[in-house]
Amino acid sequence: MTDDPDHHASAGHIALVGAGPGDPDLLTLRAVDRLRAADVVLYDDLGSAGALVHAREDAELISVGKRAGQHAPKQTEVSRLMVAYARLGKRVVRLKSGDPAIFSRADEEITAAREAGLAIEMVPGVTSATAAAAHLGTALTKRLVARRVQFITAHEVTGGLPDDLDLSALADPAATTCVFMGKATFPALADKLLAHGLSPDTPAAVVESLGSDPKTMTGTIATIAARLRENPPTGACMILYGAALAGVMAKAETTDRS
Ligand SMILES: C[S@@+](CC[C@H](N)C(=O)[O-])C[C@H]1O[C@@H](n2cnc3c(N)ncnc32)[C@H](O)[C@@H]1O
Repeated sequence: MTDDPDHHASAGHIALVGAGPGDPDLLTLRAVDRLRAADVVLYDDLGSAGALVHAREDAELISVGKRAGQHAPKQTEVSRLMVAYARLGKRVVRLKSGDPAIFSRADEEITAAREAGLAIEMVPGVTSATAAAAHLGTALTKRLVARRVQFITAHEVTGGLPDDLDLSALADPAATTCVFMGKATFPALADKLLAHGLSPDTPAAVVESLGSDPKTMTGTIATIAARLRENPPTGACMILYGAALAGVMAKAETTDRS
């Protein structure tokens, strides 16, 4: 960047844009439009590559996501950069994996923009929860069987399983649960769910690395927990469980993970 981003000039435009799960053809037309117009794109590494091809050649592309072994800027620094570039009059896209409204710290960026008196637009994306359901060929709801869908994170700030989980809700046999950031903690979560009365035969599935090299594991909550414990996947994983997934399990308890 050649300009000083802390210099206050005419306000630009900020868009929090959902990149979807990584498949280039799951980007929305609005996302493509905002990317084409952007002067600056602040992007997370997870699932952004397919979207970045729509950025202009002269756009400034800045990685603000975690990459193995490399320092990632703190959230406050990401928000500060986003605001600083917009204050220079730039059109800023903050590109996020999946949908920006779900487990992406969008609230902090919205607050930072509003506190700076800048307008902020949100462009929804396909969340990895529904992308995983599509990959598996299953619905998340099922008439008379699964009346509720819940999105949870199984990862608290310290990296462990949150200790304030609502186990009655999570062990509800009439719900489908989509677990974000859960590959390391799911075995511990499953132990708690089984102790709380959820059947060990509850259908479950893991979809790893949607959008790039997807791999699936299907089984029951008990078998999936055991396999994650024995052989933790390396890629980002969406874990789904609930009776609505029975059709996936019925296809055979399979894995295409080697
Ligand atoms: C910080 S959250 C971001 C969620 C994102 N905003 C969404 O709507 O999908 C990251 C978690 O989302 C899930 N996830 C994101 N991208 C994924 C992908 N390509 N494949 C599988 N799971 C993914 C994983 O559970 C991962 O740990």
